[in-house]
Amino acid sequence: MFSIDRKDFGPDFTFGVATAAYQIEGGQRDGRGQSIWDTFSATPGNVKNGDTGRDACNHYELWPQDLDLIRDGGFDAYRFSFAWPRLMPEGTGAVNQAGLDFYDRLIDGMLERGLKPYATLYHWDLPSTLQDRGGWMNRDIASWFADYATLVGERFGDRLAATATINEPWCVAFLSHYLGIHAPGYRDMRAAARAMHHVLFAHGTAIDALRATSTKNLGIVLNLEKSEPATDSEADQAACNFGDAVFNRWYLGGVLKGQYPSELTEWLAPYLPANYQDDMDVVSRPLDWLGINYYTRGLYKASSDPSRPVEQVKGNLELTDIGWEIYHKGLSDLLVRVSNEYTKIPLYVTENGMAEVEGDDDPRRVKYYDEHLRAVLAARAAGADVRGYFAWSLLDNYEWAEGYDKRFGLVHVDYQTQKRTPKASYRSFQGLLHNTR
Ligand code: NOJ
Repeated sequence: MFSIDRKDFGPDFTFGVATAAYQIEGGQRDGRGQSIWDTFSATPGNVKNGDTGRDACNHYELWPQDLDLIRDGGFDAYRFSFAWPRLMPEGTGAVNQAGLDFYDRLIDGMLERGLKPYATLYHWDLPSTLQDRGGWMNRDIASWFADYATLVGERFGDRLAATATINEPWCVAFLSHYLGIHAPGYRDMRAAARAMHHVLFAHGTAIDALRATSTKNLGIVLNLEKSEPATDSEADQAACNFGDAVFNRWYLGGVLKGQYPSELTEWLAPYLPANYQDDMDVVSRPLDWLGINYYTRGLYKASSDPSRPVEQVKGNLELTDIGWEIYHKGLSDLLVRVSNEYTKIPLYVTENGMAEVEGDDDPRRVKYYDEHLRAVLAARAAGADVRGYFAWSLLDNYEWAEGYDKRFGLVHVDYQTQKRTPKASYRSFQGLLHNTR
């Protein structure tokens, strides 16, 4: 059980759980188009055990019981994502009626259960036809994404409590086009530089498109890490600063100040799109809230390899099952930093959680949540306007390049039978939230 009380968060604080379409839906039928994750995961060597999201948690059919679990846990809100290729199989143009119907059912199902829908437009399942045209490397993605945003806004906007454009733009751009770990799996600086700008330009363009519909309460979800130097040496501190620019400041600075960090515009100068500066007012369109996904810290040291600007090292804190250090102080530090240095708009922790070995007794996860919820309270006490917290994730699910091995769920999933079994961590949230909705 948690050591905190719901009352500590005040009456208006939102508690929720988060998921993403490709990681849970399955249901690759009824007109859903192909996405870059379908083909990336089908290509040998990209994903552990060759796992794909073909079946995932079969949320496409089992969504009523999943929504029941969220309601019965006492949560106020459900953060989910729309699958672009389910709504627009070719990415632009024709709309898939069965896709519209699915999200109608899902959203109405939330409202019937008293759950607030927190939607994300893009959680990484780019329609393959758009990848064929260059995907995030092509500036036209902004208008493709805006058309999709208009469709979602017009059809669903008046039923959504909050809408985010992009989930984790660092992953969309850098992890997928520079490090090559996520789809489409590029390892190319020019590809990365273009994606880094286009993902934020598309975000701003979609904000304009959504505002033109009845959709209210718009934001973006950034993944932030607490950047720390491995030692106090000047070289490690400089490395930490550079790592912080790549991971955090490109996105915070771009979206909230209309300015990219100068060390990165210098590093990437030959590869950035021409005249990118002219887009910065679109990149930094005013938002109603900012989502922060937090998992761990980034520990940096100066690189011994001249071709790499920095190196990341592992520290000596306790690790989760995916190998990430557990560091709750990093969450409060980051929330306070964002509030002091970047914005006073409401902040939400849109994801936080840990991978743990399989099982439904997960005391380490209970402790993880307890400590991180305390970190949110500490940030609020220090003046950060944090309005909500979403656990990642409701269910064990498809953990991208790690496949099904890494389990983040409050609820265990048996992938053979699709049986859901609440874990101790789910019961702890239930204890915290029960009868308070
Ligand atoms: C962030 C991503 O948004 C989500 O899709 C992923 O499963 C979790 N982090 C855990 O890695």
